[in-house]
Amino acid sequence: MTNTTFTPRVFSGIKPSGGLQLGNYLGAIKRFVGMQGQMETVYCVVDMHAITVWQDPAELANATREVAAGYLAAGLDPTQSILFNQSQVSAHAELGWIFNCVARVGWMNRMTQFKDKAGENAEKHSLGLYAYPALMAADILLYHATHVPVGEDQKQHVELTRDIAKKFNHDYKVDFFPETTPVIDGPATRVMNLRDGTKKMSKSGESDMERINMTDDADKIAKKFKKAKSDAEPLPETVEGLADRPEARNLIDIYAALNDVTPADVVAEYAGAQWGKFKPALADLAVAKLAPISGEMARLMADPAEIDRILGDGSARAREIAEPILRKTYDIVGMLRS
Ligand code: AMP
Ligand code: TRP
Repeated sequence: MTNTTFTPRVFSGIKPSGGLQLGNYLGAIKRFVGMQGQMETVYCVVDMHAITVWQDPAELANATREVAAGYLAAGLDPTQSILFNQSQVSAHAELGWIFNCVARVGWMNRMTQFKDKAGENAEKHSLGLYAYPALMAADILLYHATHVPVGEDQKQHVELTRDIAKKFNHDYKVDFFPETTPVIDGPATRVMNLRDGTKKMSKSGESDMERINMTDDADKIAKKFKKAKSDAEPLPETVEGLADRPEARNLIDIYAALNDVTPADVVAEYAGAQWGKFKPALADLAVAKLAPISGEMARLMADPAEIDRILGDGSARAREIAEPILRKTYDIVGMLRS
């Protein structure tokens, strides 16, 4: 087998299922912005993934625009990055089918996210929810992406992507798909729920107080941080002092990520402080960083035609990369073209 070198290229995506929350921003979007300009960057709004669970058609298009508005408001520049929505590039679904035939049922059965989401009632969930990691592999490999920035919860799916690439290359005796590296770095790859530091912050928690939505106004952001669960101890002197203090750890990680410093820097600055001092400082920092983004999102959402134009343009550019790779895949597999 030859040793092809692949041009560095970033791919990542976010599902338009409900609004964006702080975990999406710190664990994904902010890091997407950091990689822009360093190599070619392709960022997708993965609407085909969203419908693995029921989405109201009237809301799906709007949720797709809202994720795109979040990308733009946070600093992704459509002239520097390709920004598009998945369903406008049909090659995703086509390569997804090929990968359904490469991935093994045993591999899918090990995906912890499916087990967590489907729980006891797996039989009532869609086949799409079960198969979706193979579609995610197609999203990534359709661009021969070498780097995939994601939150910690997606690590297993990027590892599956590597397994699919390896098995495809092995079965067809080619060196066609790269082994993608997951990029999971910085202090906020797993932002936790503000009411329970052992649960991940997500779009779909029971109470709105558990999460910061990217559309929350300054008053709401401040209120949620001031009411966030902490513990009875003051802030520790060192990060080691955060062990077994999940809520404290989370608030310090959020502060560090928002301010582009390390948790050790935050602990050094606030050593021994009471929560009554730290939480208002965190709330002020969060408002200073997030309010301009939510303001810009609202401005962009007032002109949906412009967002649609950007996504349409990005889709055309995405197709230019994806279609030749799909055609080559079909040739490798032996699909007849006449
Ligand atoms: P999703 O909203 O599930 O489509 O997730 C989109 C991206 O945001 C993925 O890279 C996730 O890993 C990341 N993400 C979602 N929630 C969190 C969280 N609580 N902490 C860190 N990253 C997250
Ligand atoms: N599965 C990811 C999530 O739920 C979203 C996603 C779909 C993705 N395709 C992707 C992330 C490709 C990175 C690369 O968060």
